[in-house]
Amino acid sequence: MRVRRQMSKTVSGDVMNQSSDQGAALNLTTQQALESQPLAPRFYCTDYKAMEKIDIEPVRAEWDLMMRDFELDKNRGHFKQNYEYDPSILESDPELKAEFLDLLVSSITAEYSGCVLYQEIEKNVSNPEVAKLMRYMARDESRHAGFINKALNKLGVAVDLGVLKREKEYTFFKPKYIYYATYLSEKIGYARYITIYRHLERHPEKRFHPIFKWFLEWCNDEFAHGEGFALIMRSDPSLLSGFNKLWIRFFLLAVYSTMYVRDHSRPKLYEAFGMDVTEFDYTVFDITTEISKQVFPLTLNTDDPRFRAGLERMRELQEAREALEGQRGPVAAVKKLGCVIGSGMTFARLFLLPTIPNTIPDQVRMQPAW
Ligand SMILES: [Fe+2]
Ligand SMILES: [Fe+2]
Repeated sequence: MRVRRQMSKTVSGDVMNQSSDQGAALNLTTQQALESQPLAPRFYCTDYKAMEKIDIEPVRAEWDLMMRDFELDKNRGHFKQNYEYDPSILESDPELKAEFLDLLVSSITAEYSGCVLYQEIEKNVSNPEVAKLMRYMARDESRHAGFINKALNKLGVAVDLGVLKREKEYTFFKPKYIYYATYLSEKIGYARYITIYRHLERHPEKRFHPIFKWFLEWCNDEFAHGEGFALIMRSDPSLLSGFNKLWIRFFLLAVYSTMYVRDHSRPKLYEAFGMDVTEFDYTVFDITTEISKQVFPLTLNTDDPRFRAGLERMRELQEAREALEGQRGPVAAVKKLGCVIGSGMTFARLFLLPTIPNTIPDQVRMQPAW
């Protein structure tokens, strides 16, 4: 279910009110972040009342250790550090610049989406344990979003987070869907950041922007957020068994396939890193799959050739769909519909592939080890 929040002013009006190029760029970027593209990060709201009922007592010992780490706030100063950057470095390669900006805008939307969701949960639940966890996580996500905005600023653009919060479309998700989806996006975020960080550690000459130097501490924050959801899910075993196994399978596939298709739409970026994008994605899947064994009763077999062929098919269909963007008339409409149906059927085939069962360990909490 989609929920459109009350708009206080229109984005187009906002753009028109800007006279300087900088102002227009700022708002066009905000507009880009506001768009609800199928693969773009979304904003979520949920049934806060139902989240009241979370009882963390079954995982109390691990919960308290986790909260102690959040309280220590080791990364307090990390995102306050500044860096010098010459924006003309990217000017020589407009395609790379466009893809890098696209990455930053989609990342800031994802970070801020987490921030807003965690803040809203904190505001709307009286369960003190849940509220405290959400407060810590919102604190981190707000730092992450602010840091990306600083990078965007240095490139002459910025996303207006206030406009984003007020005007972005919100998707309603039941709490359990929030747990599966957010757990996965936090862990996959960790896996992505650490893989890029380790790669650039080995190839510093490929580090075309200083933001990547921040990724180590950054990814540890995301890892810790994932731990919060792992413990919430573990506190209620019904979330990890029976019919819910199908939901876990669904969200694993949705998150993996979205990432694959989106990353393949930014070839210049991975070329600049000196990475093979497919190899990068499968490394990220391997790490995420390994981590998710802490709590999910099954994993996807991403080495299955049928899985790999299915993701490629999803990518081709998305490319075909994008090529039809802006085309009108019945022929284009039929072709677009064909792409949508094809993607749906490919997703369904991928969903039906055999999964690998996993026995959830007694101790849930993990430390980042990659
Ligand atoms: Fe984050
Ligand atoms: Fe996070």
